[in-house]
Amino acid sequence: MSSQQRFTITAALPYTNGPVHIGHLAGVYVPADIYARYQRLLGNDVAFICGSDEHGVPITIKAKKEGITPQELVNRYHKIIGDSFKEFGITFDNYSRTSAQIHHDTASAFFTKLYDDGKFIEQVTEQLYDPEADQFLADRFVVGTCPKCGNPESYGDQCEKCGTSHNATDLIDPKSAITGNTPELKETRHWFLPLDQYSDWLKEWIVDGHASDWKSNVLGQVKSWITDGLHPRAVTRDLDWGIPVPVNGADGKVLYVWFDAPIGYISATKEWATREGKNWEDYWKNEDTQLLHFIGKDNIVFHCIIFPAMLKAHGDFILPENVPANEFLNLEDDKISTSRNWAVWLHEYLEDFPDQQDVLRYVLTANAPETKDNNFTWKDFQARNNNELVANLGNFVNRVIVLTNKYYDGIVPQTQDLDSRDTELLELIKTYPDKIGKSVEQFRFRESLNQLMQLSSLGNKYIAEEGLEPWKLVKTEPQKVQNIMYVCLQLTTALAILSEPFLPHTSTKLKNMLNYSAQDVESTSWNHVAGLEPLLPANHKINKAALLFSRIEDEQVQAQLEKLQATKAANLGSAETKSNLMPQKEETNYDDFMKMDLRVGEILTAERMPKTDKLMVMTVDTGIDKRTIVSGIAQHFEATDLVGRKVTVLANLAPRKLRGVESQGMILLAEDPEGKLVFVNPDDAVVNGATIA
Ligand code: 2FM
Ligand code: ZN
Repeated sequence: MSSQQRFTITAALPYTNGPVHIGHLAGVYVPADIYARYQRLLGNDVAFICGSDEHGVPITIKAKKEGITPQELVNRYHKIIGDSFKEFGITFDNYSRTSAQIHHDTASAFFTKLYDDGKFIEQVTEQLYDPEADQFLADRFVVGTCPKCGNPESYGDQCEKCGTSHNATDLIDPKSAITGNTPELKETRHWFLPLDQYSDWLKEWIVDGHASDWKSNVLGQVKSWITDGLHPRAVTRDLDWGIPVPVNGADGKVLYVWFDAPIGYISATKEWATREGKNWEDYWKNEDTQLLHFIGKDNIVFHCIIFPAMLKAHGDFILPENVPANEFLNLEDDKISTSRNWAVWLHEYLEDFPDQQDVLRYVLTANAPETKDNNFTWKDFQARNNNELVANLGNFVNRVIVLTNKYYDGIVPQTQDLDSRDTELLELIKTYPDKIGKSVEQFRFRESLNQLMQLSSLGNKYIAEEGLEPWKLVKTEPQKVQNIMYVCLQLTTALAILSEPFLPHTSTKLKNMLNYSAQDVESTSWNHVAGLEPLLPANHKINKAALLFSRIEDEQVQAQLEKLQATKAANLGSAETKSNLMPQKEETNYDDFMKMDLRVGEILTAERMPKTDKLMVMTVDTGIDKRTIVSGIAQHFEATDLVGRKVTVLANLAPRKLRGVESQGMILLAEDPEGKLVFVNPDDAVVNGATIA
């Protein structure tokens, strides 16, 4: 095809420290997939590229917590994430990973070229360092107040609240995420990309050059970045998980994760091209290729400023034609959060709604956060399924397939003397590929899906119109009904083709019901719908009806809401408990601990000290002697409850006088966050005097 265009479509590489949720799908992967499928249906040459982002600090933190290696952790999530994408019909041409050798080689070569060409500033600077953890504190190893918006929980490299990307040393009141300590400053050598040198070029290329075709949310962020002033950014880190800096004397240093990850798009393309016998350079070095990055809004700075600056510095690569970033999706009016488990995880959705992948694709597209943050609610999910997919699309298709089988044994009827309502609808159908396509090309996926559903509504309206209802006319006006059913079958076929980018599983089911394949028509492509030939010719035999969508019941929605409620309760509980708990005391050592003589004892007598509220005077059998211990527990226990109780005693505590009575030791008690005292109870069977360590 001479007018074939080439596209390199990338979708943000997900971090591999957890599974993916509806926010990921709505913001990045479904829109990217709709776009890629649409371009393929137009006959264009598409490389749709993604993979796992497997470096970076959160992965090392989580692996450490679980007592496994970072590689083991990323292996687990690479599989879970990859499977979820497949299930939801995301048609990546390659889903690679940044721990792959080809990526390490590609990223190293990229860095080396920039290094050799003198594009970096090499500098010894003071960086945040945690002496206790013996670790420099880059990125997520440090938390502090964002210098731009005042968010007290900003990370070292980026504030998730305002999206600002900064250096860890810019944080106000930084704290180590490993020990909680205030970091020191320590000198270390790093390589910086001088973004300030690219400022004018970026302004000209994006702010002036793409003012009309880039989304306003993206342009807005880019402008604000440039206006605030760009600064050199370190592209290396003192860490042990990542791609080693390929320079002599850089032991113990790796590439910054945001330096290596976008290069992952290139390595994944290379991997795919090698497998498919293609030339990867066509997809990255040919000016005729359109490069598009689908991302979430938190990735804008990296894809519109830092990665383009890297590509420009390198010199061999094309730049993105567009970066259609989406805003965020909330869940039931609350921010989706992995750490708070406030999410609908894709693998869990599939357990609860097997075979309903397209329902989620539909709801997330209909409600996509294209221009502002949006909200996913289970009630809306149910309503859209029941009122739109079941009642509109499913209902129309079902009627057409069932009636065709009932009246004509599944054979597409012949037409004769179509009336104006029939021909008007046939003409109208032909306008839809262009209409829907225009919206997709402008990244207006909500609008395009709406148009698809309009087409289905047209069918429902036509078939139920006064004087056209086939079931009323079939006996009296058989030819008219043949005409109507023929038109409906053309519309159903159009729906089968045009729904593919949005609802791929449904499209396949529809094509199967229609027995529609490339053998019947020249092509199954998008623009065939606008062509002259009928989409489904007379005499073609279709198959029986199959279920497209089923109703979602109140109980199913209730179960999901209860699950979220339980998460909320668990979060509240742990947050309160945590905030009331005493922070850990200063470190002690083994020798100091062993100096304490802890023993099992038994309270023999107990009485309140006269004229005091708190003090209880007890005689305690420590096994080695019987001694007096005075303790401030009188408000918590009755004397009679104490006698005969086994207790843990610190026996060698220096004696001290309390209201004139010498206390010769201490009884150990636990204090819960509400201040309630509880004995640290040894087992009753342990003899008095047994030592504890
Ligand atoms: O925000 C994220 O999930 C990042 N892992 C996206 C990386 S995109 C890229 F550049 F690789
Ligand atoms: Zn901020």
